[in-house]
Amino acid sequence: MKLFLDTAFIEEIKQVRDWGLLDGVTTNPSHVAKTGASPKDLYPQICRIVDGPVSLEAVSLEADGIVKEARELAKIADNVVIKVPIMREGLIAVKKLKAEGIKTNVTTTFSALQALLAAKAGAAYISPFVGRLDYVGQRGMTLVEEIKKIYSNYGYKTEIIVAAIRHPMHVLESALIGADICTLYFDWFKMLYEHPMTDISIQNFLKDWEKVPK
Ligand code: E4P
Repeated sequence: MKLFLDTAFIEEIKQVRDWGLLDGVTTNPSHVAKTGASPKDLYPQICRIVDGPVSLEAVSLEADGIVKEARELAKIADNVVIKVPIMREGLIAVKKLKAEGIKTNVTTTFSALQALLAAKAGAAYISPFVGRLDYVGQRGMTLVEEIKKIYSNYGYKTEIIVAAIRHPMHVLESALIGADICTLYFDWFKMLYEHPMTDISIQNFLKDWEKVPK
């Protein structure tokens, strides 16, 4: 399973890249706003640092506008993927962009039928927002299971990016379901490798090592 970083902060991206764990990056307008930087400066930097797909979001609500934005964003680098919200105009844009060879990540996905349409339109990626569904009392991971089943029933090649992750169990369940990718906040990466039993075990080994004649 690939791991993407869900951020627009350059320092976070550099760190995870240097740990050797970074397969790609997803940004969104909220992440970009938090950095205080202009996308004109930020996007090329992110694309240079990341050896993998970088999702940049189009903000137009009409198909023509999305396509226009996507063409401009795609000029930034070869690894740019255009995030397109799931809606009728978005689907029209996804199909046009696919024909032009521009990859899309269909975002803000909350139902398996939306994911079916995104795959039919030719999306390279689909992003179900699992944590946001959990918040409204609907099990987010059920959505991932449904999408996985539909895509395998019909052989769609669209890759599933499990998004809006809220805890490590979302990552574990994604791997068990066979989702292609999880996109994580920086802190979640640490939570994947940290374990109190690991810390205790290391400390005990080190204590015993002191007793070994040198
Ligand atoms: C995914 O591509 C989105 O950027 C992201 O996962 C949304 O997550 P949030 O609900 O934590 O904002």
